[in-house]
This record gives sequence, structure tokens and C-alpha cells, in this order.
Amino acid sequence: MNLINSLFFKIFAGFWLLILILVAILVTLPKLEQSQPQLLDLYGIELLDKTSHALFSQITRHPERSLKEAIDKFRHPSRFKLYAMHPDGRFLNDHVPKPIRRFVIDSENISKPMMWKSHKGIVVGPISFYYNQEPLLLYAYKNLNHETNRLVLRWLLDNPGLLILITLLVSTPVCLLLAWHLTSPLRQLQKASDQIAKGQLDTQIPQQQRKDEIGELANGMDHMVLSLKNMLAGQQRLLSDISHELRSPLTRLRLALAISKKTQGESAELARIDVEADRLEQMIADLLGLARNQFQPQDIQTVQLDSLLEELLADAHFEAEQKGKQFIYTEPPAIELRAYPGLISSAIENVIRNAIKYASSTIKFDCQLTHKQIVFVIEDDGPGIPDHEIAHIFRPFYRVSEARDRESGGTGLGLAICDNAMHKHGGSVEAHNGEPGLVVTLTLPV
Ligand SMILES: Nc1ncnc2c1ncn2[C@@H]1O[C@H](COP(=O)(O)OP(=O)(O)OP(=O)(O)O)[C@@H](O)[C@H]1O
Ligand SMILES: [Mg+2]
Repeated sequence: MNLINSLFFKIFAGFWLLILILVAILVTLPKLEQSQPQLLDLYGIELLDKTSHALFSQITRHPERSLKEAIDKFRHPSRFKLYAMHPDGRFLNDHVPKPIRRFVIDSENISKPMMWKSHKGIVVGPISFYYNQEPLLLYAYKNLNHETNRLVLRWLLDNPGLLILITLLVSTPVCLLLAWHLTSPLRQLQKASDQIAKGQLDTQIPQQQRKDEIGELANGMDHMVLSLKNMLAGQQRLLSDISHELRSPLTRLRLALAISKKTQGESAELARIDVEADRLEQMIADLLGLARNQFQPQDIQTVQLDSLLEELLADAHFEAEQKGKQFIYTEPPAIELRAYPGLISSAIENVIRNAIKYASSTIKFDCQLTHKQIVFVIEDDGPGIPDHEIAHIFRPFYRVSEARDRESGGTGLGLAICDNAMHKHGGSVEAHNGEPGLVVTLTLPV
């Protein structure tokens, strides 16, 4: 990335250009305010008259001076200089400023003296003046050039409202353009990163045809998604390979077990091996299920929440009853959800089955619907989980206490499956200790 393409340079140049444009406008605006020559008012005519009389009296006081000298030396108190023109258009003065040359084209009529104000100066005239019986046209000119800066300042201070208006008019589009140029690609990238965070790794990173920091960020995100996909694909392959490879020895184990039972008859040891083989098989099935949920694309569907959970809740009720516990639940609202139905029910089922497993007597299931999300709360009155372990229970294979959980026979995958399912929907799962027992909250956007 070269400096010109960088965001740093664009921001710097944008503001720098804006200030330059503003200053240029503020300096040139007063200069654009060029009025047309206007008829001289009475006060001006009187001033011109007095000037010509003053010149006349100077000439009579210093007869040794030529008219040219007298005119050159003439200084009016208000800093007007005099210029004399022959009727044929020749000037007596050596140097005649441009505004006067332009002015005389429009104003040669002595019966109609005019005044012209520009940013360079003020010209008035003509008035007739006779010298040695020769008629001349006399013009007065005051140079304002050196006062321009002061005038601009005064003009600005006199019109603060206009100053603010000009600043707004110029700066608003420039700043808007700059802000849009910077934020619109960032917004697109933010949207893409949100989707990636939800696990949608097939999200297209908006390709930025730019070579600045934002373009590099988009390229970096592209590489990141590619690496993530490769890593996940590797993990999935490993997971399904392991699960698959574990199945073959398990099948052989079961075969050997069946033969042993036939030859030696049933025994407590063989029954134990049978139970452990069942457990192993369940674990492998769970692992394969998790791998499938995490990595295989499924179709999102519109599902009716109440019918999706109806059977699950009835089963939970039955299971709790079998264990001599009470399952109290509120009916889920009859709303439609865009979701992966299998994932939602397995997430809720895993949490409910844990609660049934650990509850002493009562399990509660509740749904709360707001305009943005639906929250499922599953509560039990069991032993709960030590606070420092709560953060870990969503990790695959994490079990709080081997001694405690050995009895229950789980594999430690249930909450990992639940966490994965919720994230896939842009939702979340959280657990905290109640009084007593564990409270698990599943949140889903609707
Ligand atoms: N309601 C609960 N009360 C107390 N401890 C719980 C509760 N729910 C989960 N746990 C603890 O969290 C651990 C992880 O739960 P998870 O559901 O992931 O695994 P599991 O129930 O042991 O096995 P699986 O669900 O895969 O059959 C459990 O082993 C258990 O120690
Ligand atoms: Mg479980």
C-alpha cells in the first residue's frame, strides 16, 4: 500500500482540502462583489468639485510646476489620486491603473459623473478642468488594494451568519463524502464479521476495490475465514475419523462379549463390560452428532415453536415422573421461528435431561417472549455447580466431578451440543446457581 492510497492520507488530504476550499471562498467572495458604475450622488459631485478647486489653487500657488507635476504631487486628504485625460483619450499621467482605463470607457460624459467601486479601488469622475484653455477630463482614484485584507476581515466579522452558512455549505458535502467513503465499507465488513461470528463461514466478505487499510482489512478477513474453514474442516475430519475408527474395535468387543456370554454364561464382570460398551457407543454417537451439527450445512426452516417442543416436554414430564420428580412447565408461545429445528430441540432437551438428572424433586421450564428474543429458563433444585466451574461446563467432555458424574453416565457433550446449537442461531446459553440448584438460560433471537 502506498501512502497516497492509505486511509491516513485520505483523511488528512480531505480535511486539508476542505480548509483550503473554505479559505479560498472566503477570500474570493468579496472580490466577486463587483458593482457596476453608478451615477455619482450629490455628495460625490461636491467632493469632486472640491478636489478640482484644490488642484486649481495648488496650480496658482506654484505656477512654476507643470500640470503633470501638480497632478502627480496632488494629495487629497482622503487619499484620492488625480488622473487627467485629454479629450482624445491620452492620459497626462505616466502610469494609469487598470480600473481607471476600464472606467473611462463607460464614463466620459462630464454632465454625468459616475462612481465605480471594485475590490481594487474607487474611481469617480469625470469633471472638466481647463488648463491653458485646453479642456481636460479629471478622474479621482483611491487604491484599496492594500486595504483588501482588512476589508475581508471586516466583511467576515460584519456577516457572521453568512460566514457560518458558507462554512456549512462547503464542509457538509465534503465531510459527508469523507464519512461515507470511510464508514460504508466498514459497515459491510462489520455485517460480514457478525455473520461469521454466528458461525456462517460461507459469508462472502465484500470485496473492496481499494488499496487502503480497509482493503487490507477485507483481504485479512478473507484469509482469516479461509484459515478458519480449513481448521474446522480438519477438526471435523479428525472427529469423524476417530469416531469411525472407534466403532470397529467396539464392534469386535461386542462380538467377543457375545461369544464369552455363550461359552461362560452371564457374569457380573461381563454385565459391566456390556454397560461400558453401551456407554462407549453412546459417546461415539454423540461425538458424531456434534461433528455433524457443527460442520455440516443444514437447511434453516420456518418452525412452529409450540409444536416443535410439544413432544419433547411431554417426554420430559414422563421421564421426570418415572424418577419420582416433578416437571413443571409453561406452554411455549405459538410463534413461528426461522431455525434449524433439530438443533433447537436437542439443545433444550440436553438441558432439561441434565436438570431431571440432577434435581432433587422439582424441575421448572419457562418461556419468556419479548419483541426481540425468546428466553427459555430451565431450573432444578439439585446440587448446582461450584461457581468457578460454571464457565467450563459448555466445553466438550467437561464434567464437574468424575465421582459424582460417573453414576449419571453422561459423556460431557450435552451442554457443548447445546452451546453450539444456540450460537448457530445467533443466540446464547448461560448458567448460574439458583437457590438451590442450577438455572440455565437459553436465549434465541426471533
Ligand atoms: N442441572 C445441573 N445440575 C448440576 N450439574 C450439572 C447440571 N447440568 C450439567 N451439570 C454438570 O455439567 C456437566 C456437563 O454437562 P453435559 O450435559 O455437557 O454433560 P453430561 O450431562 O455429563 O453428559 P451428556 O449430556 O453428554 O450425556 C455435567 O457432567 C454435570 O457435572
Ligand atoms: Mg447432559
